Amino acid sequence: MRLWKRHPLPLFLLAVAFTAPVAHADPLAPGRALFKQSAVPACALCHALKDAGAEGAIGPSLDELKPDAARVAKALRNGIGQMPAYRDKLTEQQIETLSRYVARASGAQR
Ligand code: HEC
Repeated sequence: MRLWKRHPLPLFLLAVAFTAPVAHADPLAPGRALFKQSAVPACALCHALKDAGAEGAIGPSLDELKPDAARVAKALRNGIGQMPAYRDKLTEQQIETLSRYVARASGAQR
């Protein structure tokens, strides 16, 4: 094992290669997954949102509406018009993750 002592660099690079993908994971990924499939019925069925590859046309296009997170959370908790409430289907944390995701993905908030 003296080889590693004399040449620690390859070991270091190997460690970086394995940890880098985790460190650079897409912060929007959890919200995107909720939007596309985990929330049932899926938001993508009814809403367009480019970031999620969603083209639903029953509800307003979120790319155009650009709702901030508070507005999304309100729609999720209470429902609005034809849209069902998700209060009993999503945890409070999921509602917040999803709300922040929609706000950021639609360009309403950073
Ligand atoms: C069954 C279809 C349907 C599904 C599924 C659905 N929505 Fe909606 N959504 C609508 C409709 C229709 C409206 C417009 C309601 C109105 O203004 O009368 C709407 C409105 C909204 C609004 C705007 C609220 C406002 O204040 O004007 C947001 C934000 C939203 N939806 C987000 C979501 C998210 C996030 C999901 C997934 C958890 C979702 N929707 C799932 C149909 C849907």
